[in-house]
Amino acid sequence: MELVLKKVNKLKGSIFVPGDKSISHRSLILGSIAQGETRIYNFLNSLDCLKTLECMQALGVEIELGKDNSVKIKGKGLYGLKEPKDLLDVGNSGTTIRLLTGLLSGQSFYSVLSGDGSIRRRPMKRVVEPLRLMGADIWGRKDGQFAPLSVRGNKLNPLRYTLPVASAQVKTALLLAGLYTNGETVVKEPLPTRDHTERMLEIMGADIKISFPEVKVMGGTELKGTDIFVPGDISSAAYFIVAASVLKGSQITIKQVGVNPTRTGIIGILNKMGGKIDTLNYRIKSNEPQADLMIEYSKLKGVEIKKESIPFLIDELPLIAVVATQAHGKTVVSGAKELRVKETDRIRAIVSELKKMGADIKEKEDGFIVNGPTGLQGAVCESYDDHRIAMSLAVAALLAEGKTIIKNSECIDISFPGFGKTLQKLI
Ligand code: S3P
Repeated sequence: MELVLKKVNKLKGSIFVPGDKSISHRSLILGSIAQGETRIYNFLNSLDCLKTLECMQALGVEIELGKDNSVKIKGKGLYGLKEPKDLLDVGNSGTTIRLLTGLLSGQSFYSVLSGDGSIRRRPMKRVVEPLRLMGADIWGRKDGQFAPLSVRGNKLNPLRYTLPVASAQVKTALLLAGLYTNGETVVKEPLPTRDHTERMLEIMGADIKISFPEVKVMGGTELKGTDIFVPGDISSAAYFIVAASVLKGSQITIKQVGVNPTRTGIIGILNKMGGKIDTLNYRIKSNEPQADLMIEYSKLKGVEIKKESIPFLIDELPLIAVVATQAHGKTVVSGAKELRVKETDRIRAIVSELKKMGADIKEKEDGFIVNGPTGLQGAVCESYDDHRIAMSLAVAALLAEGKTIIKNSECIDISFPGFGKTLQKLI
């Protein structure tokens, strides 16, 4: 499918964005291994999260998805999952494969995980290695570097481990495996990463202690099913936050957005660039902060983004390249090598496509440099089958003279079904 977009004048109005992807994945997994019923509200009904849902069903869990994006899970308790009869297909979802590798390591059965071409190129050793240290039997191509991954569940030992890369997926995989040990698992982070797992484990009654840089979880304690309200995904809201910030005369409101401080890096950076973003009606629901965001156009200046802030805006970095083309001066992003091992090499992808549109952007090994402001021109762009590249280019297209075509744009449904319709509401 091709997405065809033209320059727009300004954005106006009020929208909701779909539920948070990270929280939706976690609520399915934790709800499945909790005792009793879990109900999820505002679940993200997107391709990635449906893969986790299907995997949990294949593991014997009864899960019903309602038309209103509510989900009912009959939790099986920690030890109630069943051996899947076939390969577990995670599609394009890195979160699904990494989290489930942790969960399946502690089960009393055998399972195999694989996914699409992108998943089979992404690094898995980061979860396989520490899980093996806990006693897990995991095999994969190139000694466990790449999927398909075969997991023969085992009795696991608790682990004390320092993550070599700041990764919420690896942290979560180890915490899930830690639930299946008879002691305390301690995960130490080099930098704080999204803490949705810890927050959800807390409300489900896990024996967990959180004090950065360490998270400690005690194995063997059953979780209790609960109601989970999923806030809007700030990573989806980000496309409109940026578009409204750079299109003159814009003023929009995005309601009920998750504003967990481990995810709001995009707001912090835009404010530093001179953006106007107000946080209204702040409240906590299901142990996660949410708020309404009001965004107004404003003149932006370039900014320097270094390693320490990367985890707080990791998924928004391609979008930061777009905003930087409109900011006055130089924007430099460093310490973001992880972008090269996402759904695609996001540094190469965004640099090459924005260059086609006339941006002054240079690739660095661990980021990029943009000089702005530049008037962009419409072009025929590749999505690289990466949802975040496709939507970032869509924002660039709203600024560009003429017509922009984004090829293979169906990947947007991985995290944001209805992206086009939501955009229409603001034009
Ligand atoms: C995610 C963590 C991040 C992020 C991904 C979702 C999660 O990945 O990029 O989109 O839900 O835990 P890493 O843990 O690899 O940084």
